[in-house]
Amino acid sequence: MADKSESNLGKVVIVGGLGHVGLPLGIAFAHKGLKVCLFDTSKEKAEIVKQGKMPFIEYGAEPILKEVLENGNLEVSTDIKSVTYGRFIIIAIGTPVDEYMNPKTRAFLEFFSTLKKYLHKGQTIIIRSTVYPRTCEQALKLLGNKEEWHIAYCPERIAEGYAIKELKELPQIVAGLSEKAVEDASKLFKVISPLIIRTSMGEAELVKLFTNAWRYIQFAITNQFYMIARTLEVDYDKLRRAMTEGYDRASALPSAGFAAGPCLLKDTMQLAAFNSNNFLLGHAAMMINEGLPNFLVEDLRQRYDLSKTKVAILGMAFKADIDDIRDSLSYKLGKILRFHGADVYYSDEFVKSDDFVSKEEAIESSNIIIIGVPHSAYKNISIPLDKEVVDLWGIIKRK
Ligand SMILES: NC(=O)c1ccc[n+]([C@@H]2O[C@H](COP(=O)([O-])OP(=O)(O)OC[C@H]3O[C@@H](n4cnc5c(N)ncnc54)[C@H](O)[C@@H]3O)[C@@H](O)[C@H]2O)c1
Repeated sequence: MADKSESNLGKVVIVGGLGHVGLPLGIAFAHKGLKVCLFDTSKEKAEIVKQGKMPFIEYGAEPILKEVLENGNLEVSTDIKSVTYGRFIIIAIGTPVDEYMNPKTRAFLEFFSTLKKYLHKGQTIIIRSTVYPRTCEQALKLLGNKEEWHIAYCPERIAEGYAIKELKELPQIVAGLSEKAVEDASKLFKVISPLIIRTSMGEAELVKLFTNAWRYIQFAITNQFYMIARTLEVDYDKLRRAMTEGYDRASALPSAGFAAGPCLLKDTMQLAAFNSNNFLLGHAAMMINEGLPNFLVEDLRQRYDLSKTKVAILGMAFKADIDDIRDSLSYKLGKILRFHGADVYYSDEFVKSDDFVSKEEAIESSNIIIIGVPHSAYKNISIPLDKEVVDLWGIIKRK
């Protein structure tokens, strides 16, 4: 429940409010008693959310969404004029890289120019999207007189699907281009976050990009280890357990698996672009992580004629137990297998598609089963011993 000072903070408008970042954030603020408007260009998502339904998996969000719609703390709008009525404007639209891995900085700034005519100087503008360094400064220049506008940068660091839990637990980085922007953004985020960490703008921009690049490189190390172990015909999952059990210095080594999704690679490449493409570790990580599907197929090709083989991929989302397929490597794996003539069946527990089959049918129809992502539902499946299983995650228990 909100105390009075929280509900007095003023209205929060989230631009890109129906996305994976904007929507849980809006729900979290509204649940604390703030008045929140989610502005988004997607009419389709707006219809779903207005009915109290989540357009994607976000654990724990739906009951709170229904509650804050009913008590009037949350509203949904597809009209850009809603931006005029906010005291705080939070920007949470997507910031992708292009097909050559260059950040699309101009697209973000053009969007900002469009937004400009609905903004006014009494507002505090908070950029939540992950941006290329110095983007906030460029945005401030676009607004005109720098002294009169207030822009903060408060990057999102949740793990997709778990925002409702993590927004309450994670420290919030707050930086701004004026003292007032930092004060206002800190006051706002204090409502949901246990700890505010104030940094300079340059620090905040790098905290976000380093966090994702660090994670991406960690996955690359374990994936490279997997490939070396596999070449030596050593069971990597068993090896990794032996390496980490009771040995803290190695405990951060994640399991091997596809490092995919809309953030890790993109942010590693934004960092590389910012550093004049001089980010050897980042580029090496990209080659390893993006090369893993190719490695798996080459490994199979040594033992099978793929043109006479049926392969099932279980798990098409980009990570376990969610329904987001953005930049999922399971599709890349499927494409390479099909290029070599294999019949490929796709299956997923959460993603719906007319082309997909059930996990039972996929297993029944195939000689080789590849785990694309370790959805929890795969923990208890049994796969006949005459079928080959490729399970980087070590989730399948075979008798
Ligand atoms: N997905 C994550 O887990 C995650 C985590 C941390 C940071 N981020 C960063 O947050 C940002 C948003 O990512 P996301 O995953 O939420 O993207 P998303 O695609 O799920 O959401 C973006 C939303 O913005 C809307 N939108 C696009 N253009 C708009 C416009 N001009 N006006 C209003 N709405 C508009 C879209 O319809 C969509 O609903 C990105 O910069 C991303 O890197 C994402």
